Amino acid sequence: MSFTSWYNRTLNQIWGFVEDRTSMRKWALRPQPQFTFKPSYWTGGFVVTAFLYQVVSGMLLLLYYQPSTNTTLTACGQPVGTQSIAPAAWCSTYYIIHSVPMGQLLLSSHLYGAYAMIFLMFVHFFRGYYLGVYKAPREFSWMVGTLLLVMTLGMGFTGYLLPYTQISYNATNVGLVLALRLPTVGPLLGPFILADGTSQGLLSRMFDAHVLLLPLALGALLYAHIALFESHGIAPQATSDPLQRRRFTEKEDKQGVPFMPHIFWYITKWGLLYVGLLLGIAALWPWNLPTYVGNLAAAGVVTEPDWYFLWLFKLVDFAGVTPVLAIGITNVLLLYVLFLPFLDRTKRTHPRDRPLFIWLATSLVGFFILMTVWGGETPGQQIALMSIVYTIGPIFAVNAVVTGLFYWRYRRSYLRRLQARESSFTGSYSPPTPLSIDPHRAVAEAKSGE
Ligand code: HEM
Repeated sequence: MSFTSWYNRTLNQIWGFVEDRTSMRKWALRPQPQFTFKPSYWTGGFVVTAFLYQVVSGMLLLLYYQPSTNTTLTACGQPVGTQSIAPAAWCSTYYIIHSVPMGQLLLSSHLYGAYAMIFLMFVHFFRGYYLGVYKAPREFSWMVGTLLLVMTLGMGFTGYLLPYTQISYNATNVGLVLALRLPTVGPLLGPFILADGTSQGLLSRMFDAHVLLLPLALGALLYAHIALFESHGIAPQATSDPLQRRRFTEKEDKQGVPFMPHIFWYITKWGLLYVGLLLGIAALWPWNLPTYVGNLAAAGVVTEPDWYFLWLFKLVDFAGVTPVLAIGITNVLLLYVLFLPFLDRTKRTHPRDRPLFIWLATSLVGFFILMTVWGGETPGQQIALMSIVYTIGPIFAVNAVVTGLFYWRYRRSYLRRLQARESSFTGSYSPPTPLSIDPHRAVAEAKSGE
């Protein structure tokens, strides 16, 4: 017997045993159509993988980390006299890096894992945006997703302070100044975040939020997010057909691929690749700890947040942009994302048919990339009004032209293709698959500009 057939038979036997004892198929996620065997359909699953890695690596870090600003006399394992006044939070991080076996790998992979989770979340978000998955009946999935986005960024914000480096301390203070300037909400939030106003109070609150409150909220929201996904099934491919069904029937489900074990293994395979890559990168480029809060020799440390907040950080450098305005702009953006399913009301999901929303998304991607690079290159440098107009204006203008041209070009060729298909049909249309387009109906609608 070849190795492959032995391997497959053994795997089937093990799976058969588990399935028999657990009836897992009954409580696993619903079966999925064959076309979902593509990574782009499971971008959310990759975010879940990244989240799980953060939970596991975070729990290991908790074994050593001390959320305390008390200065330590243990000298953090360095020659006594050089670092002996460093806060315990920084010292315990230093200890993890230098004394815990594989500690630097663990800490670096936790940090890079956070970057990866945020990056993957944006991939998941923009995929959903471009392909219109937020449309009925998935409005609530989208809205819960928006809350997940806020929670995930909150995890990043609160985690940044924990090593208690001067750079993270400065940036956290800038962030707090922005958050606490929010009208009404700011003063309400203040006591919760700042505690008794001491550095220890702030560190304790950030720590609580990072290891308990936000992960719990994230877990609960994720449960709701996946329950909604389960109830609707996966979104079908984007289409120009306004009448396409957006849900699969039970009969179609039965023809789909069972989630357990097939889809689960498919995602796990990618998940393992993710963990391997993450550990590889962390091993090759380990993170080094910047200097601690209160180090007098570090007076010239620049104030810089992590890359995902650089855009906001740069925004306050713009002439005329006060903290209140910057936080106001952020809130408008968030509200736009939250209520997007109710703003984009057409039933078509294909990007070709939603030029206004595609223009906005592409311009915002350009805007965020530009601001992030700009924030990294010239942190804290004031930007004059004209320079803002010359730099940001072209992004929106060029995108408007490109999106407009694509819209015009594809609309024409799409109509031609539909007409060709229509003329090749005689009599009534019988769809090859339940979700495919009826050309007679589609031509009539495309012509009427529906
Ligand atoms: C921590 C962040 C997030 C996690 C862990 C997560 C997880 C998931 C998972 C596992 C799915 C099932 C399908 C898939 O794997 O792609 C999913 C679907 C979905 N997510 Fe998320 N998500 C997150 C953030 C977001 C955000 C920010 C949005 C949008 C604002 C969003 C909107 C959606 C929508 C609309 C679906 C249904 C997609 C479909 O049916 O094809 N999610 N999410």
